[in-house]
Amino acid sequence: MGVAAKIAPSMLSSDFANLASEAERMLKFGADWLHMDIMDGHFVPNLTIGAPVIESLRKHTKAYLDCHLMVTNPLDYVEPLAKAGASGFTFHVEVSKDNWQQLIQEIKSKGMKSGVALKPGTPIEEVYPLVESENPVDLVLVMTVEPGFGGQKFMPETMDKVRNLRQKYPSLDIEVDGGLGPSTIDAAASAGANCIVAGSSVFGAPEPSEVISILRNSVEEAQQKS
Ligand code: DX5
Ligand code: ZN
Repeated sequence: MGVAAKIAPSMLSSDFANLASEAERMLKFGADWLHMDIMDGHFVPNLTIGAPVIESLRKHTKAYLDCHLMVTNPLDYVEPLAKAGASGFTFHVEVSKDNWQQLIQEIKSKGMKSGVALKPGTPIEEVYPLVESENPVDLVLVMTVEPGFGGQKFMPETMDKVRNLRQKYPSLDIEVDGGLGPSTIDAAASAGANCIVAGSSVFGAPEPSEVISILRNSVEEAQQKS
């Protein structure tokens, strides 16, 4: 028995002009969470959505909105995103070395779950203090591509970090993001990831519900074997 599998389609691959119906479609297909990629054009060379879009979407769905902040100043986004109706707030460790304690505190005090993400080149040791803190993060997001864009190739070398985390923290929510789909999920699931973000593989499939169930089955089977 492991931590519950959560499949989170990345709405970055959806049709933004029809976000509410895209969200509804994904939930009907079996998604647990909706992954929302928030970028500022500075931390990453791309610009996507912010609190106003989360607020609009929230009016159409009760779903868990798993917000991934690829921004240089995550603290500035805590209050607006909480007000907009975000469920989870995951910031990057690379830009939070000096204020992660304050970030976790403020995220949780506003009723959101807190998460920390790390880029492929960032050593896993950098998140240990955030997991072992008296007020710890609820989730660690191991990036399996360089953040910024959907549709990139999964980096298998990042799996050592997932294995390391799972060994140390058996009940932690460990999320993977980037290049996940039917051909890469087994590597991530057997390393110990339980929250799976998938954009292009889900939205680009003729039957997204089949991809979602392949991802879930892989996580559950890997947990049974471990
Ligand atoms: C990349 C984003 C991902 C992205 C994943 O910076 O954080 O969430 O949308 O897309 P795929 O699954 O297509 O790699
Ligand atoms: Zn993401």
